[in-house]
Amino acid sequence: MKATFLIDTNQPLIIKEVETPVPTANQVLIKLAYSALNHRDVWIQKGQYAGPKAGLILGSDGFGTVTEIGSNVDPAWMGKAVIINPSHDWGDNPAAFGDQFKILGNPEPGTFAEYIAMDVKYVHEKPVHLTDVEAAALPLAGVTTYRALFTRAALKAGEQILITGIGAGTALLALQYAIAAGAKVYVTSGSQDKIDKAKTLGATDGFNYKEADWFLKAREATGGFDVVLDSASGKGFGSLIEVAKPGGRIVFFGGTDGPIGNIIPNKVYWRNLSILGTTMGTLAEFKDMLAFTEKHNIKPIVDKVYPALADTQQAFDYMHEGKQFGKIVLTNQ
Ligand SMILES: NC(=O)c1ccc[n+]([C@@H]2O[C@H](COP(=O)([O-])OP(=O)(O)OC[C@H]3O[C@@H](n4cnc5c(N)ncnc54)[C@H](OP(=O)(O)O)[C@@H]3O)[C@@H](O)[C@H]2O)c1
Repeated sequence: MKATFLIDTNQPLIIKEVETPVPTANQVLIKLAYSALNHRDVWIQKGQYAGPKAGLILGSDGFGTVTEIGSNVDPAWMGKAVIINPSHDWGDNPAAFGDQFKILGNPEPGTFAEYIAMDVKYVHEKPVHLTDVEAAALPLAGVTTYRALFTRAALKAGEQILITGIGAGTALLALQYAIAAGAKVYVTSGSQDKIDKAKTLGATDGFNYKEADWFLKAREATGGFDVVLDSASGKGFGSLIEVAKPGGRIVFFGGTDGPIGNIIPNKVYWRNLSILGTTMGTLAEFKDMLAFTEKHNIKPIVDKVYPALADTQQAFDYMHEGKQFGKIVLTNQ
């Protein structure tokens, strides 16, 4: 089969002919039609991610059809249209993953390939309301934002939430989940155009994080937020503390803008804020995320579909530029 290969960090991705995997007893073989990028893939190529950095087939998200099954797998899976849960070996503690935890695509071979062999416990039928492309775009951003909003931040109907960097694939799913849950959603972005697009999806308003005083305007206009969801971190994190209401929760799962800076301690403890880290999710959260996505007819926003695996490097460069509004998808066959 053909697969996109990371030979070494900071090297262009190449297409390589590799052995098609053979499913073991508990696995199915999936012929992948589409896969989707996550910023993690770009961090790995740039050597900015823990774990192995070379000789990898990247990719955590995929949609395809089951073409072969292992000896222990129910034959009903044959021919099914499926998506993959990329959050593997979480362990027994729902509060945090254990030593064996992995995210599909590093070190396990990922989805930027024509086929993937996958333990059937991570394989789920494609939600019927999604197109094949949308299905490929859902899993990683879906499970991460679902856990962030509902398990960690315990977002409730009627609350006011700020979602930062709305162009991100994760942020846009979070916007849709939060609206479906009955929250009032505000966003930030470095682009007015993206704020305007977010408003067409149901955001009440937005603020440009490139303006130094954006947080003053946001606090004045909204009265502050019960929940803030962030994946940028960086020096701007202090502004998120400024816009949180007393007792508010700031939940975050990324460091796109680097290490967190300038937290003034009393602004956190005096105002009883909670700062909550979160990553991916449990098997149960993945299933709950799928059910919620189906119940509320939520469709991931897809910015661009590249026509072939051979375009993976172009897709990575596009993501690195940060121009996207939503998910970036590859056509695998
Ligand atoms: N821990 C986990 O489980 C987990 C899971 C998924 C993602 N992540 C992390 O979360 C981040 C987002 O991932 P993704 O795949 O959704 O990325 P993505 O689609 O590439 O999104 C990047 C977005 O980040 C926003 N951004 C950049 N600088 C910012 C800043 N200073 N303040 C606010 N927003 C800023 C931009 O939004 P605008 O264009 O609107 O300005 C940009 O579109 C990455 O760091 C990723 O590694 C972590």
